[in-house]
Amino acid sequence: MKKKPLIVGNWKMNLTLREGIEFARSLSERISENSNIICGICPPFVFLNDICKILKDSNIYVVAQNIHNEKSGAFTGEISALMVKEVGCTHVLIGHSERRQLFGEKDSFINAKIKMALSIGLKPILCIGETLKEREDGKTEYVIENQLRSGLNGIESDCIKDISIAYEPVWAIGTGRTASPEQANEVHSFVRGILSDEYGVNVSNSVYIQYGGSVKPENAKELMVKSEIDGLLVGGASIKLGSFLDIICNCVN
Ligand code: PGA
Repeated sequence: MKKKPLIVGNWKMNLTLREGIEFARSLSERISENSNIICGICPPFVFLNDICKILKDSNIYVVAQNIHNEKSGAFTGEISALMVKEVGCTHVLIGHSERRQLFGEKDSFINAKIKMALSIGLKPILCIGETLKEREDGKTEYVIENQLRSGLNGIESDCIKDISIAYEPVWAIGTGRTASPEQANEVHSFVRGILSDEYGVNVSNSVYIQYGGSVKPENAKELMVKSEIDGLLVGGASIKLGSFLDIICNCVN
């Protein structure tokens, strides 16, 4: 049976505080009655405190865009898992391709962050995805398997239920070029197979696997109807309330 769609909007480094607050208020008014969907937003760090307060009693998750892997210490400019949890985040994106590509994050660092998040009860969304060159060289499965296995290295089976996976082909992020529903479903099914090998079929089936990469109102539904696509991670189309709501609407209707 299909899971309730999980639609998460990644604002990245966009919007002003005032715009973010207005967005959160309107989103909560518009979807708080909707129990057919699970929804989350990823505001920039400095908006988290205000937005978590607004969404405290709503059914909308507030997701941090990143954390550091250490509890505390001399890491100028970094934010810990405990800090984002303390302000009210329930989830965190880990290993987004922009972090991997622009900030040099390696699989071992990503794995350490996942462990830190889990240790304090913050739920990670592990992002994985191949570049265009890797796809063209026929290395998609190799890259996905490596990122997935290294990201989850050493994590016990009973913690896997708290992790979601976001498959985001790098060539589809912010480019307007979406993976076809078939291409996305194929990789999701490959990911599901690895999870099943590693943790058993029941655990594997319970894991949310989201697709991300140029998701918009026009393609949300055709992606969501695919059997292995449990949700969407939306970047550009999530910073305008209208298009984010249209995506949500198209996924439930
Ligand atoms: P995009 O970004 O929807 O703008 O392609 C997706 C993401 O990076 O999570």
